[in-house]
Amino acid sequence: MKGKVLEMKKQYYKVGVVGATGMVGQRFVTLLENHPWFKLTVVAASGRSAGKTYAEAVGSRWAMPTPMPESVKQMVVQNAAEVEQIAAQVDFIFCAVNMPKNEIKALEEAYAKAECPVVSNNSAHRATPDVPMVVPEINAAHIEIIPAQRRRLGTKRGFIAVKSNCSLQSYVPAFHPLMQEFGVEKALVCTYQAISGAGKTFDRMPEIIDNVIPYIGGEEEKSEQEPLKLWGHIEGDRIVNAEKPIITAQCFRVPVSDGHTAAVFVSFAKKPTKEQLLDAWKNFRGPAQELGLPSAPKQFLHYFEENDRPQPKLDRDTEHGMAVCIGRLREDVLFDYKFACMSHNTLRGAAGGGVLLAELLAAKGYLD
Ligand SMILES: NC(=O)c1ccc[n+]([C@@H]2O[C@H](COP(=O)([O-])OP(=O)(O)OC[C@H]3O[C@@H](n4cnc5c(N)ncnc54)[C@H](OP(=O)(O)O)[C@@H]3O)[C@@H](O)[C@H]2O)c1
Repeated sequence: MKGKVLEMKKQYYKVGVVGATGMVGQRFVTLLENHPWFKLTVVAASGRSAGKTYAEAVGSRWAMPTPMPESVKQMVVQNAAEVEQIAAQVDFIFCAVNMPKNEIKALEEAYAKAECPVVSNNSAHRATPDVPMVVPEINAAHIEIIPAQRRRLGTKRGFIAVKSNCSLQSYVPAFHPLMQEFGVEKALVCTYQAISGAGKTFDRMPEIIDNVIPYIGGEEEKSEQEPLKLWGHIEGDRIVNAEKPIITAQCFRVPVSDGHTAAVFVSFAKKPTKEQLLDAWKNFRGPAQELGLPSAPKQFLHYFEENDRPQPKLDRDTEHGMAVCIGRLREDVLFDYKFACMSHNTLRGAAGGGVLLAELLAAKGYLD
């Protein structure tokens, strides 16, 4: 296995984080400290941060529960726009920037064309048909579209791979092991999303205290459409979306620091028993577990028997924030079943999911 080979050789991939000063960027910086395969060598952000040390540029914005790693404090932040210069220093980049969509698209393509693979948290390229959008437990095979994308971009090494939106990170994994045998036909989901999903802390979003905001721009469309790409298939030089399940979503912002919850209602082509559902979740393993990727949770789907779980505050760090927590499974009067699920939005739903995707790409040789 590639990972074992890397460990034996003590060889690292050099990695840059573009958007390193932001909420997701800080998570990347934290996760890359002592990573067995990846070594953080470049931190980059906007011109506002460029030239400052990382500690100066982030200042009071540091929002992680652990202190800023010593190894990054004195690194000088580079300007993300200096693509060729950064590409020459790294083997690939993670990208998590807050910019207009067309600018993110252009920036990510510029890195790919500079022969620097991009593992992105941004939504800009999620709908691009030859850009794989991957949850490694679900659709790892979609990375096989990368040669077609390289042909379009005219690159040898460079490409863009993305992870999906954080909102769907709890319910799509819960549906996945049920798709083949029982056929998920339709689902209604209401998400209760943490403020770190907007790059905020309570200090920087006082309007959320004692409040619920029933709107997150663009989130409902992503929650309904992106799952269809994850369950799509490769046809020639593009990924063709699945047609089912039909998903309708409402997405609310709630006063929680980290952890997106979803209330889920679902109907099947062939209704499973409750025991069949629980067994499917308990026994599910995907390519991330089979390949033994360093950031993969041992048990991806955790079912809680207690009536009042999962809760973000108690359960978001399950398996280092990389697991999906499910609970309250019961029959419904309109749909077949209803249940609750929750996952950490900046770990599994953002930077952790990005690191896991990069580990998959490394294990399969796409970063060499
Ligand atoms: N937060 C989440 O849970 C989450 C989940 C999934 C996906 N995402 C996506 O990840 C991306 C980043 O989100 P975030 O929450 O980390 O945002 P954020 O906290 O606002 O951080 C934004 C980052 O982008 C950089 N940036 C802004 N303008 C730039 C420019 N013109 N050129 C280069 N860099 C620029 C900022 O650098 P400066 O510090 O120099 O301004 C900062 O590093 C977004 O696309 C978001 O949709 C977020």
